[in-house]
Amino acid sequence: MLRTLRDDLEAVHRNDPAARSRLETVLTHSPLHAIALHRLAHWLHVEIGVPLLPRLLSTFARAFTGIEIHPAARIGRRFFIDHGMGVVIGETAEIGDDCVLFHNVTLGGTGKHTGKRHPTLGDGVYIGTGATLLGPIHVGARARIGAQAFVRMRDVPPDTTAVGAPARIVKQDGVRVERELPPTRLSPDTHTSADA
Ligand SMILES: CC(C)(COP(=O)(O)OP(=O)(O)OC[C@H]1O[C@@H](n2cnc3c(N)ncnc32)[C@H](O)[C@@H]1OP(=O)(O)O)[C@@H](O)C(=O)NCCC(=O)NCCS
Repeated sequence: MLRTLRDDLEAVHRNDPAARSRLETVLTHSPLHAIALHRLAHWLHVEIGVPLLPRLLSTFARAFTGIEIHPAARIGRRFFIDHGMGVVIGETAEIGDDCVLFHNVTLGGTGKHTGKRHPTLGDGVYIGTGATLLGPIHVGARARIGAQAFVRMRDVPPDTTAVGAPARIVKQDGVRVERELPPTRLSPDTHTSADA
């Protein structure tokens, strides 16, 4: 846990040109506080099975940082959130290593699905401010989602850039393209609310 927290601290300094000393970051970087509380809440919820306390911790984190992360959400190493206010990460969201999210990003459900119903991000995914990703979609490794993009029930292939609302692919492997996002491949754990 301590090594994971130290990695999260280093991710701030790797990604944020405004970060000065480690002490200043530990004392003042709200997203780092939210991530640290999430690491604790997740461990209590998933590894130990403690009731109630993990939700209380995430509610406390939300009140103090404006970042809401469900204790069950799985988040990889070196996670970085910039600014943070308004970020929502749902219960069945999964986030790979080295991902970057800006403020007001939503990794949410459509309201029509149960079970696995939130996005899965591969390693090195970058999501700009205000982007909304809905449903049990897959965002491939190193994909970049532009500020204010809207992605619902569509997958974002690896090494692509997707922008706009609804989002479309504008870059693949560094080459400018114009392409629609493919419909998502539903996981076997996803059900529509009509099935439930
Ligand atoms: C998408 C983004 C990551 C750039 O990715 P990239 O792979 O380097 O893509 P490019 O900058 O080459 O842009 C590719 C095309 O998408 C367009 N584009 C880029 N970002 C866009 C966005 N958010 N919305 C709409 N179009 C966008 C560009 O204008 C360009 O189109 P053009 O070739 O017709 O001019 C970046 O533009 C972005 O949105 N970053 C978010 C940053 C952020 O949230 N900052 C908050 C700071 S507080």
